[in-house]
Parts: sequence; C-alpha cells; structure tokens
Amino acid sequence: MHVARLSLTDYRNYRRAEISLEAGATVFVGRNGQGKTNLVEAIGYLSTLGSHRVSGDQALIRAGADSAIIRALLTHGDREVLIEVQLNRQGANRAQLNRAPVKARELPRYAHTVLFAPEDLAIVRGEPSVRRRMLDELLVQRTPRLAGVMTDYERVLKQRNSLLKSARSRGLAASQLSTLDIWDERLVSLGSELIEQRVALIRELATPLADAYRAIVDADHAPELHPLLSIDGADPESSAEGLETRPASPGARPSNEADIESRFGHALRVLRPKELERGITLAGPHRDDVVLLLNSLPAKGYASHGESWSFALALRLASAELLRRDSTTGDPVLVLDDVFAELDRTRRDRLAMAIGEFEQVLVTAAVLQDVPDPLTARVVHIEAGRVEESEPTGV
Ligand SMILES: Nc1ncnc2c1ncn2[C@@H]1O[C@H](COP(=O)(O)OP(=O)(O)OP(=O)(O)O)[C@@H](O)[C@H]1O
Ligand SMILES: [Mg+2]
Repeated sequence: MHVARLSLTDYRNYRRAEISLEAGATVFVGRNGQGKTNLVEAIGYLSTLGSHRVSGDQALIRAGADSAIIRALLTHGDREVLIEVQLNRQGANRAQLNRAPVKARELPRYAHTVLFAPEDLAIVRGEPSVRRRMLDELLVQRTPRLAGVMTDYERVLKQRNSLLKSARSRGLAASQLSTLDIWDERLVSLGSELIEQRVALIRELATPLADAYRAIVDADHAPELHPLLSIDGADPESSAEGLETRPASPGARPSNEADIESRFGHALRVLRPKELERGITLAGPHRDDVVLLLNSLPAKGYASHGESWSFALALRLASAELLRRDSTTGDPVLVLDDVFAELDRTRRDRLAMAIGEFEQVLVTAAVLQDVPDPLTARVVHIEAGRVEESEPTGV
C-alpha cells in the first residue's frame, strides 16, 4: 500500500497541511524542530493509534486547539480508501472510513506502516514494556482482531488488580476469593492467547531478523530472540520474585512443554499469597519480556551503540518483511525518521538497498546529504509546520 495524500489539521505544529505523495521514496528535509517527525508520526498514528514518542494523545493536538485531524488517502493496488481520525482534547476520538463513522480500532486494518526511529534504540536498551509494545503493535497489524483481546486483557487485569488491592486492605473474604477465581479464569484465557501469539511471532521473526541484520551489518553476529515468560517464573520487572524461589508450591510445576493455559493457571495459584500481599497481578503477558541476543550475549548491557542500533533496525526491517509476506494490503509503508544520520556510509547504503523494494518509503533528515542517493529522487521541504514540495534533485 502507499499513502497518496495526507492532510493534517491542528496536528502538532501544523495548522493545516496537505501533501500528495507517490509510491517510491520521498525525503522530508528541514532544519531541526520544523515538523518532519510530526508529519511521519501522523502517518504512523493511523496504523498503531498511538505516537512512537508519547503515550497519550494530548501532545499531538496543536497547542491552543481543541482537536487534531489526520486524514489519509491510501492506495491498495487499484483500490483507494480514505481514513480519518479526529483526536479530541475532551471526549473520545472519532474515526471515519470513506467518510462513514467507524471505530478507531478499525483504522489499523487499512494503514500498515513500519516506523524506524531513534527511539527504537530503547527496544534493545530500554524496559521490557518497550519490547512488549513492539511485538504487540506488529501482532495487531498482522491480526487486527488481537487489539480486542489486548483491550479485554487490560480490563480484566485492572479489575483483578483492584480486587487484590481491596483484599489486601480489608483481608480476603470467602466471596472475594471466589470472585478472584473467576477473574483468574478470564485472565488465563485471554492472557494465554496473547502469550501464544507473541511466542509464535518471536519464532517467525528469527529468520527475517537474521537476514535483515546481515543485510545491514554485513557480518553474522547471530541475532536471536528468546521469550522470557513470567508464567514460567521469569519476571523481568523484579527478578527476585521468580516462581522458583517460592516455597511449598501447591502441586508440581508443569514443565515448559505443558500448554500455556495450565502453566499460567499454576503460576497464579503459586503466586496468590504474594499477589495478595502486593495487591498486583504478578504473572501474565503484561510482565513478559523478550531477550535480544547477539553472539549469545544479551544485547542489553553487552552490545555497542552501533550494534544495538543495527539490531533495532534489523527488527523493524524483519517486521516489515513479515507484514509484506502475509498482508492482504501489500507492502507496509516504511517510515525512516532520522535514521541515516546515525549510520556510517556503508550501513546507510546497505539499509537503502534493503528497503529499496518496498512500495513506499518515507524518510526524514535534517541534512539531505545523509540520505543515500537512490532515496532522494523526491524531496519535500518542511519549514515551521509548512510543507513545500520542490523540483526533483536530478539523481
Ligand atoms: N502540540 C503541539 N503544538 C504545537 N507545536 C508542537 C506540538 N507538539 C510539538 N510541537 C512543535 O513541533 C516542532 C517540531 O517537531 P518535530 O519533532 O517534527 O521536528 P523535526 O523537524 O523532526 O526536528 P528534528 O530534526 O530535530 O528531529 C517543535 O518545535 C515542537 O515544539
Ligand atoms: Mg525529528
């Protein structure tokens, strides 16, 4: 797919902007702070319903305005769809598909993007939540239905946590105990699906990741991904609380071969005293992680800056390959925000080669010379929230 037209109203530093885009590569150039990232962030929003830079939507609405609108005309082969989202300071956001109201959750079915950004370094170096988010965003783009499972899981988790909290402060009554059992069942059934999906995705990413890393780096550092599941006792959020360390577990722990649901159920039974003490749910997909290895060592803590950055890029490229492979909407739009400035000449050229065949590639750069030639055929200048198209550079 590609974005044929983008229009922004009161989005970040754009009062009103309208831009026509084509398949192939386009570079957005401008000095720092002019609105390059804002523009591509808006495109990314349509596919993830969030920004890669902030967690809430408030910062996306232009200061002083009540709402922002992102509208995009997308081309899927010979079909066009017009999608729109209105972000409101007060009240719920609204979405439209071909000018008819739809749930915002529907939009990611039509807009597929993979964003490469400096923030991606946090996939390697940051907290587990960053890696969970990377996996979940990819899952939703591949299987939109899972967005609903994720929302339901979050809701059950919240309810269960508040029950645990109230039990902690008032002591647990028998009726609460049976309510807790009911929540456990829902948590396990929704959570197990998410765990299974993530584990399957991690497995599927292995080969494209190795290929992508080799394509960018020209060396085989054997990048690997390993799921770290809290239901099996791994708890990346607090390593001291593993199931292994719990004495007197009720019943033998199921082996890792057992199905996810029974392992999850077992973990909750073992952890219950601790959960009642802490007032939070200690096992489930919300506490899982995935370990990134380079040459068998955890990239977090061992890998150099350049290696970490290449790992993050390779993960995005591998995600793009998976989406391209199984998507009914064709290639995802690749967005590279400030990516080339961080790479040496060889890696720039190699990355440009690796992404060259995707239907649409949108690049931002403060310095045009940082972007390899094959990507600079079309240049758009961005200045103070205004878009200015210019003549082809002749390469
Ligand atoms: N909600 C908002 N309302 C008004 N202005 C905003 C809002 N959010 C961000 N801005 C402004 O947008 C400007 C530029 O944002 P952006 O991140 O797109 O710059 P950029 O062109 O990518 O710069 P760089 O090259 O440094 O990455 C900043 O000056 C920022 O203050
Ligand atoms: Mg920027």
